[in-house]
Amino acid sequence: MTIFDTHAHYDDPRFASDLDEVLTNLPQKDVCNVINIGCDVDTSKMCLDIADKYDYCYAAVGIHPHDAGKAQDGDIDRLRKLAQHPKAVAIGEIGLDYHYDFAPHEVQIDWFERQLALAKELDMPVVIHEREAVEDCLKVLRNTKDVRGVLHCYSGSWETAKELLKMGYYLSFTGVLTFKNARRALEVVQNMPLDRLMVETDAPYMAPEPFRGKRCDSTMIRYMLEKIADLRGITPEEAGEITAANARRFFGIK
Ligand code: NI
Repeated sequence: MTIFDTHAHYDDPRFASDLDEVLTNLPQKDVCNVINIGCDVDTSKMCLDIADKYDYCYAAVGIHPHDAGKAQDGDIDRLRKLAQHPKAVAIGEIGLDYHYDFAPHEVQIDWFERQLALAKELDMPVVIHEREAVEDCLKVLRNTKDVRGVLHCYSGSWETAKELLKMGYYLSFTGVLTFKNARRALEVVQNMPLDRLMVETDAPYMAPEPFRGKRCDSTMIRYMLEKIADLRGITPEEAGEITAANARRFFGIK
């Protein structure tokens, strides 16, 4: 099996006690690559430190909508510098989250747009987080030209997915695919072009069934691949190869 985890947070404190053991073992358990995703300047640096230490790990640098309220003007310059690192492969995670609403909507939109502009300037793809903000998110993306992006942990409708796919976006899915109430995500996976599909853990969160609620790690992606294989009439191995090839192309990894 080939597992490319396009979105993880191994910098999270929940991995602090055994991080080296977990990351040293993943390549022996079918994991070919992991992208760790920053949520602010400090965690972006931590993701780059992990990428320095483990050959198969890469990083995205960015400011999460949860952290937009704490972001400072100089942070765009800081991210620009971090993005020069040879293993920085994307700007993220960026976007809008009106569910938790940790920062005013205008502030979230402003940081979303500034980081999209940075990605365009640096010719890097973006990793987008959207929760309960689909209308504003689409509005921003419709006004954004020439940026490649992925909607991470996609949970929207097939209607919205069609518009995003038409604009060239990729869609990435977590362990939510294996949950009993995953009807919408399953409909999207069933109908979308396979060459835009990626998989991720969002570790330590979003562990699939039968591990729901536990600490998630990249090996658990096999349960998502089995679900995709089921829906598309392919083998889990093929689902792994297809999603890994998509991720390599998307992030520009050889
Ligand atoms: Ni995340």
